[in-house]
Amino acid sequence: MEQFDNWQQFWDEFLVKRYGKEEVQTEDDLYLQVARTVNRKPITREAFDEIIKQINIDLALSKDDVLVDFCCGNGLFTYELKDKVKQIIGIDFSQPIIDAANKFKPAANITYCLGSVVDYMQTFKENWPGVKPTKYLMNDSLAYFSVADLEGMLKGIMSASDRFTYLTRGVPNDELKWNYYNTPERRQFYADLQAKGDRTNDGLGSWWQPADIRRVCDELNLQCIIRNQQLPLSNYRMDIIISNA
Ligand SMILES: C[S@@+](CC[C@H](N)C(=O)[O-])C[C@H]1O[C@@H](n2cnc3c(N)ncnc32)[C@H](O)[C@@H]1O
Repeated sequence: MEQFDNWQQFWDEFLVKRYGKEEVQTEDDLYLQVARTVNRKPITREAFDEIIKQINIDLALSKDDVLVDFCCGNGLFTYELKDKVKQIIGIDFSQPIIDAANKFKPAANITYCLGSVVDYMQTFKENWPGVKPTKYLMNDSLAYFSVADLEGMLKGIMSASDRFTYLTRGVPNDELKWNYYNTPERRQFYADLQAKGDRTNDGLGSWWQPADIRRVCDELNLQCIIRNQQLPLSNYRMDIIISNA
């Protein structure tokens, strides 16, 4: 599918357009601002804790790590990882979302940076002289990128880091799409979005083919493990661990 090309505006305006809120005022609003919701309510504490646990395990975080959090949003998850690593660099292209991160989720070892991920990685070494990240995270955001973007992102990582692990979580898996559109109404909703040409998929972004991810990794000689998520997190998203180990 062709990529929707104004995701930045979409995210800048998401809180006000979807919820009629001009700015974040409560912890719950942080979840609404970055769509970490189920049926318009923040995900449960249980789901949140499970995500943090899986990130820790999949990235094998340690106090020596410099972690880059791609599409860090307002720092909901970034902040929870601060005691596991030495330093975190969060990157997100939405000014209101980065403003909320600095206001609500600041920490001495986290720097929230405004920028678009693929572009940012092209000049990472100039922005962060001498810093070699060891771990990269992208939580629930690959859906807003194209296959070419993934390739650009990985090339950027490879030029900034010697050894790295990159965990990209919550990627909508095209092979599991019908678990999501699982009633006649939901299937009709999806058909209507397609017919309208709504390329945001109501904010969900693009469905990804696992084979596309494997192909990009093969071409760059990177290892890749793809694992479908399980309920209660989701039955239509996958987590991917990419490394050069
Ligand atoms: C669904 S939210 C997830 C935020 C965060 N990772 C989390 O799990 O709470 C998607 C985020 O991706 C950011 N984003 C989307 N495309 C981006 C890009 N090209 N560069 C930087 N940030 C981007 C949006 O601004 C938004 O904050």
